[in-house]
Amino acid sequence: MTHLLHTRGLTTDDLFQLWSSARLIKQRGAHHYRHLLTNHTIAHLFYEPSTRTAQSFHLACQHLGAISLLPSLANSAIHKGESLVDTALTFVAMGASTLTLRHPDRDSITTLASALPDHVHCINAGNGDDQHPTQALADLWTLDEAGIDWRRAKIAMIGDSRYSRVVHAWCDLLPTLGVRQLHLIAPANLCYQPTDDTLRIHHHTDIRAGITDCDVILCLRQQTERWPTELKTAPSRAYTCLQQADLLSAKPHVKLLHPGPVIRDHDMQGVLLDDPRCLVAKQVKHGVIMRMAILCWLYKIPLAHIQTPALHAQEPA
Ligand code: NCD
Repeated sequence: MTHLLHTRGLTTDDLFQLWSSARLIKQRGAHHYRHLLTNHTIAHLFYEPSTRTAQSFHLACQHLGAISLLPSLANSAIHKGESLVDTALTFVAMGASTLTLRHPDRDSITTLASALPDHVHCINAGNGDDQHPTQALADLWTLDEAGIDWRRAKIAMIGDSRYSRVVHAWCDLLPTLGVRQLHLIAPANLCYQPTDDTLRIHHHTDIRAGITDCDVILCLRQQTERWPTELKTAPSRAYTCLQQADLLSAKPHVKLLHPGPVIRDHDMQGVLLDDPRCLVAKQVKHGVIMRMAILCWLYKIPLAHIQTPALHAQEPA
């Protein structure tokens, strides 16, 4: 059975298929697809706090007509000692044909995927500091929609790239899109170093130097919940907060992103959220659409062949 556990191994074809499905849903309107997953039950198991990922999966399932279960695990039997796999199999017994999982442990997602019966899909909604594939797919589609020229784009990331699973999922996709270099701005102990050399990493500690002539800036939250104790107490706990004035160093039409939640005046100056170059709200909107596209992809539903009333009403002759 197909799963989406990480972004490694996704091909250009996979990306373009997902993005063209997402574009169709956006053009035609999400409400036209309510018949596609009727009679399917999808459960979202979130063992860590989440606002946008959990709710956008829930909403994506509802737009596709599925029965979407978003249980509060704070009140669930996990506090009586039930294992992740046994909790998951409980939802499978109730008829779930897809499970999404957010969990603080890296290994959780492969443990779950290998324990599921063949007919059940599994989607990684964030496993520890490892991967967050659906967020990366939504973010990169947002940039593609904004007209990024992938082969020429200069991309910078400000903040804790080392413990950000969003960054790790981006980094596995960027070479597939033709991106060869990345500028990371962070103290050395918060800077990600990929294990292979498909991306050349330029490390900076100064924001203005790092974003010079950039087309894209991804700001990040400090993932303090994943930091080892020595990092929490280290004197180098300097933070990297992008200021509006810094953007003069970047290209005039730079695209500013953040996967959320944005900690105002810590990850970026609060006013930047209202800057027309800031795509944070669009990332959220696209997050719902991309999760619909991902579900259709896993269930092998070819969206291009689905007739919708909007198709005839909206498409030019
Ligand atoms: C990210 C996450 O949980 O990894 N947020 C998200 O899912 N939209 C980033 C973060 O929490 O900083």
